[in-house]
Amino acid sequence: MQFLINDKTYECEADIRTSLLDLLRDHLGLSGTKKGCNQGACGACTVLVDGERINACLALAVKYQGRAITTIEGVASTRSLHALQAAFIERDGFQCGYCTPGQICSALGMIGELKRGVPSAMTTDLRNTTIDLSPDELRERMSGNLCRCGAYNGIVDAIEQTYRAEVTE
Ligand code: FES
Ligand code: FES
Repeated sequence: MQFLINDKTYECEADIRTSLLDLLRDHLGLSGTKKGCNQGACGACTVLVDGERINACLALAVKYQGRAITTIEGVASTRSLHALQAAFIERDGFQCGYCTPGQICSALGMIGELKRGVPSAMTTDLRNTTIDLSPDELRERMSGNLCRCGAYNGIVDAIEQTYRAEVTE
């Protein structure tokens, strides 16, 4: 199989039933993506595919050939952390850090959804083509990413700080 991950092409042989999460971690050595529940409940395995967030534990790797996959290893530039990564450090958005790669990939996907006007259960006006990140929107849209350490206040602060800086640029 052949994959495009973080702008790099990878080739490997794997059982056709391999999940994208196991492919990343066990076959390609990209262990930044974490395995929490392995059943779609915790969000630790969140990666981006063509800019949209998915749970890699629920995805069959074979289906994602030819798509642009981004993992936490591909979020920073070669010279500096992504602003959201820096904000997680600045705002104490983690303790053990196990959920952090998924939180960051998920938040980046969420910001894309807001820009495209993709509604959530909290969106009141469905005519909007872009959606502001209200506290309710943020909590609803990030509810698929659990943090066992309870670092939620810092996580919310880091995402809000990055989002506000981006929309006021
Ligand atoms: Fe995929 Fe928990 S490991 S959602
Ligand atoms: Fe430990 Fe979130 S920082 S699980």
